Amino acid sequence: LVDGALIPWRGDTSNVYSTISSTEDYKPTLLGTIPTLGKKEAIKALDAAVSAYNKGQGLWPTMKVENRIACMEKFVEHMKTKRDEVVKLLMWEIGKNLSDSQKEFDRTVEYIYDTIEDYKQMDRNSAKFDKHDGVYAHIKRGPLGVVLCLGPYNYPLNETFALLIPAIMMGNTTIFKPAKHGVLLITPLLEAFRDSFPKGVVNIIYGRGRTVAAPIMQTGKVDVLALIGNSKSANALQNQHPKSNRLRLVLGLEAKNPAIVLPDADLDLAIDECIAGTTSFNGQRCTALKVLYVHEAIVEEFNKRFSAKVDALKFGNPWEDDAKLTPLPEPDKPDYIQDLINDATEKGAQVINSKGGETTENYIFPAVLYPVTKDMRVFQEEQFGPVIPVVPFSDIEEPLDDMAESNYGQQVSLFGKDVKTLAPLIDTLVNLVCRVNLNSSCQRGPDVYPFTGRKDSAVATLSVHDALRSFSIRTFVASKDN
Ligand code: G3H
Repeated sequence: LVDGALIPWRGDTSNVYSTISSTEDYKPTLLGTIPTLGKKEAIKALDAAVSAYNKGQGLWPTMKVENRIACMEKFVEHMKTKRDEVVKLLMWEIGKNLSDSQKEFDRTVEYIYDTIEDYKQMDRNSAKFDKHDGVYAHIKRGPLGVVLCLGPYNYPLNETFALLIPAIMMGNTTIFKPAKHGVLLITPLLEAFRDSFPKGVVNIIYGRGRTVAAPIMQTGKVDVLALIGNSKSANALQNQHPKSNRLRLVLGLEAKNPAIVLPDADLDLAIDECIAGTTSFNGQRCTALKVLYVHEAIVEEFNKRFSAKVDALKFGNPWEDDAKLTPLPEPDKPDYIQDLINDATEKGAQVINSKGGETTENYIFPAVLYPVTKDMRVFQEEQFGPVIPVVPFSDIEEPLDDMAESNYGQQVSLFGKDVKTLAPLIDTLVNLVCRVNLNSSCQRGPDVYPFTGRKDSAVATLSVHDALRSFSIRTFVASKDN
């Protein structure tokens, strides 16, 4: 979708394969094809966004709030009619199970409605007159300009839209490149974008990052880089911008969220939450629990019960009701996870669940590794997949030291009962990460709560309320007369 038109494509295309298959060997099958643009077409998309912004005097950045809202409402109503198609593609393209795929769609619709509501409220509250020291000011929030938006494969709809929707709502114009896994599922929505917004406001392109995103950045015409993914891609793109220090960034990046299980924790609850936190969508969530610190007084019992529960999880195709574990969209992920397991076992850890590491074509069963130490890759890297490191500790300062040294700082889960122990610990933990989950696993939602991270985990804050602010700036007109 470029400059308001779905262009018939005669150039290169990429095949999109399914993550799953109805055959028993789980071999990927061809799902469809998608145009693969070159540099020339990518620059056309950028030019469309630049001219729709038109130095801030375009139709969209100057449109009245109520009219902009009407466009967004039209979009979401149209989007709702595409639920079945998008949900089906979420299952086939990225292997997300049926209920989570439905949740992703519904959550995104809700996100859009909440954004509209918050935008109305923001407009009411922020468009105000002020007077200080004889100077009158009319203050309001305005757009930043042209936004290049890149989404991740694990939430190709929800997280991408958590960037795109607030960026559009605030009057910016956009170029959006979907993730490699999770691109086909955007196609049912192309007409909704085309018919709801003025031309050039939303341009959707596909191609290799190096071929399409890098040349766009090199023009220096992008005002905001919005990306959820890894810091390597974010840095590479940021560095392409000739004036990268004036580029605004809205980034959701890596995390290595720990769980800390204290000796007095309700073990049944802690185990269930750690199962959900480590295995939901096969651990492919930035908010997944990626290391479990368990106090040495209870670690033996924890390991026994936790491993048995992991082994009881069912692997299957996403539409099977009880399939908690599903095939992985990235073909090299099983080998990568196997490398982490090998490295840890060579350095003294064991796979303590009996099914850990079993593989099929595009799947590897979650391996619980114990005892994991700092020299192991699985401790250091964000695994983003089915392998679960368990680290025993005797003193709470051990996990706290690791968290302070970590490059990441998104969330933590804390399991325990004694309020006198928990209260000061919570005060410390909120200064190391941005969200402390008490007796529950880590997660992003509800989407109205701030979603961000310290250190390399994020730049700017997402969530309905914060994202509107991340994609805008406070401006004002000052005058000595009212
Ligand atoms: O990949 C990171 C996502 O933001 C995780 O979101 O906690 O709702 O699964 P979630």
